[in-house]
Amino acid sequence: MKTLRTQVLIVGGGPSGLLLGQLLHRAGVETLILERQTADYVLGRIRAGVLEQTTADLLDQAGVGARMHAEGLVHDGFELLVDGQRHHVNLRELTGGKTVVVYGQTEVTRDLMAARTAAGLPTLYSASEVSLHGFDTDHPSARCVVDGEAIEVHCDYIAGCDGYHGVSRASVPQGAIRSYEKVYPFGWLGLLSDTPPVGHELIYGRHERGFSLCSMRSNTRSRYYLQVPLTEQVGDWSDDRFWDELRRRLDPAAAGALVTGPSLEKSVAPLRSFVAEPMRFGRLFLAGDAAHIVPPTGAKGLNLAASDVHYLSQALIEHYRERSQAGIEHYSARCLSRIWKAERFSWWFTSLMHNFPDEADIDAKLRRAELEYLVGSEAALRVMAENYVGLPW
Ligand code: FAD
Ligand code: PHB
Repeated sequence: MKTLRTQVLIVGGGPSGLLLGQLLHRAGVETLILERQTADYVLGRIRAGVLEQTTADLLDQAGVGARMHAEGLVHDGFELLVDGQRHHVNLRELTGGKTVVVYGQTEVTRDLMAARTAAGLPTLYSASEVSLHGFDTDHPSARCVVDGEAIEVHCDYIAGCDGYHGVSRASVPQGAIRSYEKVYPFGWLGLLSDTPPVGHELIYGRHERGFSLCSMRSNTRSRYYLQVPLTEQVGDWSDDRFWDELRRRLDPAAAGALVTGPSLEKSVAPLRSFVAEPMRFGRLFLAGDAAHIVPPTGAKGLNLAASDVHYLSQALIEHYRERSQAGIEHYSARCLSRIWKAERFSWWFTSLMHNFPDEADIDAKLRRAELEYLVGSEAALRVMAENYVGLPW
């Protein structure tokens, strides 16, 4: 068996793991990343599109913000389309100057991978059979198999950045962790295409046929989503069926402006609210989707991953510089306070904008009243805008 040693072992090479690695590297802390997939596979997953200002600032701090500034689109607001009527939500005005940046998770990941390669930092891709050991002692370690070779890694700390289905959370003894979960009775069917976006801003749509979202990656690449039943198979959705259904859920102006084209990617994502508490077990930390999931309606998942990584990198850097345990001790509570607020916002926005099968008439009426109130009240829109741009760290 080959034996390696590092200061912080990072399990998972998605945005959380890569960003943590980069922030620690800039502070002189050694890391090794174990990633189950290949780099191309990780880059092939089409996910988040909207970055809060604080996430963009953290990417700058990690030294990987240049392309985001050159190619990302700063959005001052978005549109709510409610039963055929569009309402503009002016984030900049409602929040005293805050905005979001539209820059795809794929591009963030690509920039972080390039920085890691340029710095000569180690990542073991296609690492299988990853198992974690001794994180309740002073000598944690991990084992895995890469290219048929068994590897053992000794470290000071393990950062579990391996997403919802990862090994890190699953390694914690059942009695030490508590999970809270809500699964929504629908999913999102997403389509990516090299077509110009239907508008300058995102359009979140509520319609009797279901929710829709018009998003984008650039001025020439669009990302669209449709609420679909959980039983729906991607294979049953030809591109034409997708475009027809989207057009039906848009207002005549947007439907008329929609430019269609062949899909580059199509996939169905289930919607879930999930939080695991706490987020530290001795020398094992959970960060990002490994610890929590939000339904994508609020565009919060990647941004929450970034705030976890911010707190975790600070705690570890402080520990190595000053031998302080304070940040490590407070890591879980700091993260969870922000996470629950984002969970609340994502659940609220999801509940407001989607159709719920078998909903009682009174619930539908209450939702309609809340939507009417929201679009007619500056105070209510301000609350929404404050959450959408991201609560402060
Ligand atoms: P992941 O991206 O899941 O990365 C985990 C990594 O760990 C993966 O590379 C995986 O291969 C690896 N791994 C798993 N198991 C193991 C193992 N046993 N050993 C080693 N490695 C392992 N968020 C936003 O903020 N804004 C948005 O607009 C937004 N839109 C979204 C739209 C969709 C359709 C979806 C599905 C998500 C969206 N999100 C959004 C959420 C966002 O994509 C996630 O929150 C983000 O990917 C979390 O990053 P992560 O690194 O924590 O986890
Ligand atoms: C996306 O572009 O993928 C996206 C944008 C906003 C969301 C969710 C997803 O709320």
